Order: sequence, then structure tokens, then C-alpha cells
Amino acid sequence: MKKRDLLNRRDLIKKATLATGSFFIVPRHVLGKGFTAPSDRLGLAAIGAGGKGRSDITNAWHEGANNVVALCDVDVSQCKATVEKFPKAKFYADFRKMLEDHNDDIDAVTISTPDHTHGIIAMAAMSLGKHVYVQKPLTHNIYESRMLTEQARKYKIVSQMGNQGASNPGQQQMIEWFNEGKIGSVNKVDVWTDRPVWPQGIPVPKEKFALPATMTKEAWDLFIGPAVMVDYHPLYHPFKWRGWWNFGTGALGDMGCHLIDPPFRVLQLGYPTEVQCSVGQVFTEDWVPEYIPEGCPPSSRVEIRFPPSSVNPVELKMTWHDGGLRPFHPDLVPADDFLGGQGSTNGVMMTGEKGIMTCGTYGLNPQIYLKNGDKLMMPESFKANNHHAEVSEYGHQLLWTEACKEGFNGVKHKGLTSSFDYSGPLTETVLMGNLAIRSYMLGKKGNNQRGRLDFPGRKKLRWDGASMRITNFDEANQFVKRDYRRGWEIKV
Ligand SMILES: NC(=O)c1ccc[n+]([C@@H]2O[C@H](COP(=O)([O-])OP(=O)(O)OC[C@H]3O[C@@H](n4cnc5c(N)ncnc54)[C@H](O)[C@@H]3O)[C@@H](O)[C@H]2O)c1
Repeated sequence: MKKRDLLNRRDLIKKATLATGSFFIVPRHVLGKGFTAPSDRLGLAAIGAGGKGRSDITNAWHEGANNVVALCDVDVSQCKATVEKFPKAKFYADFRKMLEDHNDDIDAVTISTPDHTHGIIAMAAMSLGKHVYVQKPLTHNIYESRMLTEQARKYKIVSQMGNQGASNPGQQQMIEWFNEGKIGSVNKVDVWTDRPVWPQGIPVPKEKFALPATMTKEAWDLFIGPAVMVDYHPLYHPFKWRGWWNFGTGALGDMGCHLIDPPFRVLQLGYPTEVQCSVGQVFTEDWVPEYIPEGCPPSSRVEIRFPPSSVNPVELKMTWHDGGLRPFHPDLVPADDFLGGQGSTNGVMMTGEKGIMTCGTYGLNPQIYLKNGDKLMMPESFKANNHHAEVSEYGHQLLWTEACKEGFNGVKHKGLTSSFDYSGPLTETVLMGNLAIRSYMLGKKGNNQRGRLDFPGRKKLRWDGASMRITNFDEANQFVKRDYRRGWEIKV
């Protein structure tokens, strides 16, 4: 019954939005120019209202274009500013209770919790017909990304992943340049980041900490969600969960969906076919390497191979560098030109037959260095012509709310730069890198002379994207999907 009501309501919102000046509760002309009729507003809720959640819900609210009905967070100390900004929104610690209580007046939710809870929360919201904006990486593992992509279609909801650079005009410029044949076919891509910028590659913490006064035991249970239960520790919450596989997705998960996005989009890449990597070691004792399979490594280099695509007719090798390592500076780029833009600590470089195309984070500073010596930069007019260039985070959240009002498969939905049809396969590709890293770190008691561990997963892994399987090392397939804590299994 509730679902039916929700759909009817959404239908009405759509009609009211499409028919300019149409009468619905309060006609817009009565309110005057610049006012949004209550009926034209989406009912929004934020799950994860601290950290990135604050700007996600604020940008989706867009100075009152939409109505923030409820906020959900497990730690009141993290989301104080958001609660103060939206004093009328009802506050919850448990997203399940919030969705149940507000099924009638929530149309869409922003989900900005740590990576390990994106999948389960998004699935719960989508199954109630709510549109979802989910932070990057879309999910914690490849299986969840595939499920979310399929279920968004099944529930006919409008989705967007929070890689806001996707809506940056810089990306559009790179697509145009590539399609005009400026750099020719690309067979080599380098992507690099300064992440991790939090403690990573460190031993599992053993000290005991009391829960912060701002969190209840139930709230900690909700933070853990589908993960393996561990006691609270400040090395997990807030923010530092990134460095532990139980919760986070390491450097790749943090920046991969921003930085692999431009080549994935411009070159229209699909599932990769092969992946291999190398990861940094940790020593807390002379000559004795630490073995910390619970933690993401301090640094890694990952090579991912792609077959030719419909726009790029050659095979492609993409190399990911993290921990602050950068690719070697190419001859074509003048020594005093900073790769990725001045001062940029992250970047992208696509090497083509005729030249090199680079950009920084979020598709910023797109540039081309041609073999004939010419250098191309994005003209200001290109940026200015982009509809939402002046809106916070390139209008990435606003565009999603506009698409929600129009409805599933509408023109605006199809125009979104990171709906799950695109961001699902992108996230799977990013998480392929993590699958390789975790396989590389898979130690087994060895038969070697010194009784050290053997590492059977340190080889090139072959991927069958359609069936979501590594075909030449079965043990790697344990990283396609996680083990879910009882009661937190993802139900499709
Ligand atoms: N797009 C971007 O530029 C960008 C930037 C930062 C973070 N992120 C992404 O946003 C997400 C959050 O990262 P962060 O840096 O804000 O982390 P954070 O730990 O600083 O904040 C997470 C917030 O979610 C709350 N939370 C945790 N579990 C919850 C649950 N089960 N239910 C409700 N609330 C819960 C926390 O209390 C906290 O307020 C991550 O997926 C991250 O990758 C994206």
C-alpha cells in the first residue's frame, strides 16, 4: 500500500514539474518567482550525515529546492553541523527505522557512510522505491556493485554515484578531444594518487577503547553492519576505516572512482580481462616483514588490461600507482609542467598515437601534449557553456535530484554522468585492483627452507567479467564477495 502511495506521489511530482505552471496543492505563480512549490520538492534523507554526508545532503537540498525530511547517523558528534543546518529533520541512528517511519515522505536518500555499508543500505532504500545517491566507491566488493546495478533497474529508481568529477566539464572536454581524434588510439593509461593519507599498512590495533560518549552500543553495531564485529577503536571510526579491508577499500577505493573515471568514460572501457600488482612491505622489526592481511597495504602498483572498445580499437594497459608514487615524466611533457596540473598530487595520463592527454583529480585541468609540439588547454568558454559548472560539485547532486523528479529512464536520468549503469562497471573495475592486491597478500604456510609464507596469488589473474570469476586462481574468487555478518546479508 505504502509503495503504491509513494509511486503515485512521485507521479504527481513528475507531472507538477513537467507542466510549467500546473496546479498542484499550491500553484507556483501564487508563490511568486524564485519559490519552489512544496509539491515540486523531493523529500530527502541523508544516511551518514557527518563527513562527506554533510555536503551531499546540502547540495541535494540546494537552498530549499528540496526538503530534508530526516537525517541518520550513528555518531551525533560527527554530524552536529548537518543537524544544526536542518533543525526540522527528524534524527535517527538506525536507517531501517528511518526508512520505515518515513516511507511516505522520503523520495530519495543520500548514502555517505563508510564503504562497507553502502551496498546493504542502498539495497534497503531501493527496495522501497527510493532514489539513491551513493558515495564512491559504489560498494565494498565487486558482487555488490553488480547487484546494485541490476536492482536499480529492477526497482526503476534513479541512481547516481558520488564521484562528482564525472559532472565536471573537464571530462566532457576530454571526450570531445578524444572523439575528434586529437590523440589517436590509446594503449597506455597511468593513474596516480597520494593516498593513503591515513594510517595504512599498520598492525591491527590491540588497545581497548571505550565507545565515545556520543555513540551507543547499538550504534556501534550499526556501524559494523555486515562486517566482522570488532571493538570500537579510533583507528576505525571516523575516517580511518579506509585502511582496513573489513570496512574500507584502501587507496584504490578512495580515489579510483575519481581517477579511473576519465579513461573509463572517454575510452568507453568495459570489464577488464587481466590484472596484476605489486604491494609495499611493512617492517616494524629489522628484516622481518609484517604480515597484515586485515589491513590495506601502504602502497601498491596495479596493472589492469582491457580489450579494444567501440571507440578505442587497441588493447590497453592501465597502471595505477598509489602511496605517492607517480609515473615517470614523459619526454613530451615539458619538465616544468606539473603532471595532472600545478601542485596536483593525483592525476591521469592517457598516452595515444599522436600525443598525451592528462588531467588532475575530478577531471580538472584537462590538457593535451601533441607530438607536433602543440599544447591544448580547455577554453574558459567550454566551462561556461556547461549548465551546472557554477553549482557546488559541478551540480552532481542537483542533477540527480532533478532526474529523480522527472523519473526513471527520463531524459535527465539518462543524462546523469554516474548512474549505476555506468558507475557499477566502473566500481567493479576499481575493485578488481583490490581483488588483485588481496590475492597478492594471501599468505600460506610455505614449504620453503626458512618456513616463511608462500604467496600463491602473486601472478597475473585472468578475469571473466560476465561470470564475475578469476579463471586461473580460484582462491582469488573469495574476494569477489565478502562474508556477511548474520542478519546483514544482502538480499536480492
Ligand atoms: N566524493 C568525494 O569527494 C568523497 C570525499 C570524502 C568521502 N567520500 C566517501 O564518503 C563516504 C564517507 O566517507 P567520510 O570521509 O565522510 O567518512 P567519515 O567516517 O568521516 O564519515 C562517515 C559518517 O557516516 C556515519 N556512519 C557510519 N556508519 C553509519 C551507519 N551504519 N549509519 C549511519 N551513519 C553512519 C559516521 O558517524 C560519520 O558521520 C565514503 O564512502 C567515502 O569514500 C567521498
